[in-house]
Amino acid sequence: ADGVDEALEALRAGEPILVHDAADREGETDLIYHADAVTPEAVARLRNDAGGLVCVALGHDVAEAFDLPFYGEEVDHPAAEAHELGYDDRSSFSLTVNHRDTYTGITDNDRSTTIRALGEAAAAPADTDFADQFRVPGHVHLLKAAPDLLSQREGHTELGIALANAADLPPAVVVCEMLDDETGEALSPADARAYANRHDFAYLEGRDVLERLG
Ligand code: 5RP
Ligand code: CA
Ligand code: ZN
Ligand code: ZN
Repeated sequence: ADGVDEALEALRAGEPILVHDAADREGETDLIYHADAVTPEAVARLRNDAGGLVCVALGHDVAEAFDLPFYGEEVDHPAAEAHELGYDDRSSFSLTVNHRDTYTGITDNDRSTTIRALGEAAAAPADTDFADQFRVPGHVHLLKAAPDLLSQREGHTELGIALANAADLPPAVVVCEMLDDETGEALSPADARAYANRHDFAYLEGRDVLERLG
């Protein structure tokens, strides 16, 4: 099994995987779980071991079914007018949400509740009343994948959803950037790979995913 097969197997088994996008893009490695597999312990790993922003990426069709916009297109503020990113044409950010059964929304229990419910919602969009289940704003950032995934955008949003699709799982994954506690910068690919090896987690380069699924 190559790295991609190992990663698909891991996602199905509820294990995290690591995906580095590309040196000439963000140059970040995200720790990724399928949303269905998230527990309070997984949220603790995301904030302690990854340390970036905990986001849930949703497939484009699912996000559309829930009427979730791209944040940048919706907000009417001068700061949203020219959203110049150094590494891509546009951000994949959508709204932020909390499940209605949460209290503050930020605890490991609360974020786990929100993230797992997003996984269930993504499995059955037609049976989901999104506003009945979730409130906006909240403490979990939603990301909305490009309609044609990797042929349109090569972000972790699309890489994660392409992997969920290939694993035959609902299109909802939680992603969080691995940061370096010493430097505060993105964790280097070498250190991210070493972390993956230490924990026996799959590690992929974006180009491995693009070659197989792009
Ligand atoms: C949100 C981000 C992350 O990089 C995340 O991976 C989603 O972004 P993208 O699809 O652009 O890689 O910035 O924390
Ligand atoms: Ca840490
Ligand atoms: Zn990213
Ligand atoms: Zn990022």
